[in-house]
Amino acid sequence: MKTYILGIASGILLLPACRTQSGGVPEVTPAMAARTDVSEVRLQNGRDLYMSNCNRCHERVLPGTEDPEFWREVVPHMAKNARLDPSQESDVLVYLMAAHLVARNVKVPD
Ligand code: HEC
Repeated sequence: MKTYILGIASGILLLPACRTQSGGVPEVTPAMAARTDVSEVRLQNGRDLYMSNCNRCHERVLPGTEDPEFWREVVPHMAKNARLDPSQESDVLVYLMAAHLVARNVKVPD
């Protein structure tokens, strides 16, 4: 009985985490946009570019696994690999930095 109740409790606790991270690539939300002061449109464009380009040559490297500074170094190099233009490159970079905050569960305002 005790185990049963604990099982339910941890299920409830895990649920919000699953929803915001969706497989380790956080969805763009109003909270993410507010936290980073970047528009949702731009973040969504960055996420779309990341989803369609950044697993063509290797497994997708997830936002939360790397520091923002790492992304700042790697993205310009990878944007050339993916043949992104400078504005697309910058959208991918801001998305990855914003997603890092969400993936690491840094508190974002509602
Ligand atoms: C045309 C192929 C290609 C595409 C497209 C590509 N990559 Fe890469 N990526 C590579 C290769 C090759 C390496 C390993 C050698 C290197 O670092 O250049 C690599 C390495 C990496 C690394 C590890 C670098 C390190 O120093 O550990 C990361 C992170 C990465 N890619 C992210 C991305 C992201 C983000 C995108 C999308 C913008 C992307 N890649 C698109 C070919 C690609």
